[in-house]
Amino acid sequence: MSDSIYRAQGLVITIDGPAAAGKGTLCKALAKHYRMKYLDTGTLYRTLAYQLKTQGYVADDAAAGQRIAATMVDHYDFRHVGNNQFGVFWDDEDITHHIRSENMGGLASTIAPITEVRDAVVAFTREYVQRWQARTGVVVDGQDGGTVVCPDAAVKIFIDASAEERARRRHLDMQARGRDDSFEDILAAIKGRDQRDRNRPVGPLVAAEDALVVDTTQVDAAGVFELATQRVEASFS
Ligand code: DC
Repeated sequence: MSDSIYRAQGLVITIDGPAAAGKGTLCKALAKHYRMKYLDTGTLYRTLAYQLKTQGYVADDAAAGQRIAATMVDHYDFRHVGNNQFGVFWDDEDITHHIRSENMGGLASTIAPITEVRDAVVAFTREYVQRWQARTGVVVDGQDGGTVVCPDAAVKIFIDASAEERARRRHLDMQARGRDDSFEDILAAIKGRDQRDRNRPVGPLVAAEDALVVDTTQVDAAGVFELATQRVEASFS
């Protein structure tokens, strides 16, 4: 093993799973622990949905989606903003708050099946992984990381939890941020998103055959982190 502070140089970890399963929490913890680069691919679909909306297009405009996706490399940035928090920027404007709503998650899920949009996002993600893999290693947060984007990743983890448990967590999270969406509305939105994400014809949300599948309904964040690091450590030997 090298003496570098970047122990995970060369390593790609894919963390896939449905909305509110705890992917972000696990990815951030792994990226911090191993000093790896982190990319949340959900923010790419969310950013595209937001750009389509603010530029006045309907969400299913494939041509506009493809056009905007192709320019993402010049405008989009995902970066650490301190305190283990990550921000999403478009031309240096912080759009994190705009894209994080459940509404934008739903819109992202609606545009995600458009082949042209997916192709552009997958290409963007692969370039990003290529740029950082040898330097620091990369943690990719998404839904098709282990199956489509990085099928050769050495560590693949799929995390899941019941829709009710995920809605409960999202509800608490929103309350903490001062929002008063009802539990029932959040549960319905999560179920709708699951249905679309698991059944889209391209890059559906599914665990790769060689992924470690963790049901986080009964396991807390520390327990999931422990299981994930065991996998990562095993990949070093
Ligand atoms: O992970 P998230 O909640 O930020 O993702 C928002 C939506 O984006 C998700 O419901 C479907 C889409 N998505 C996708 O199709 N493929 C990915 N790799 C990541 C997200």
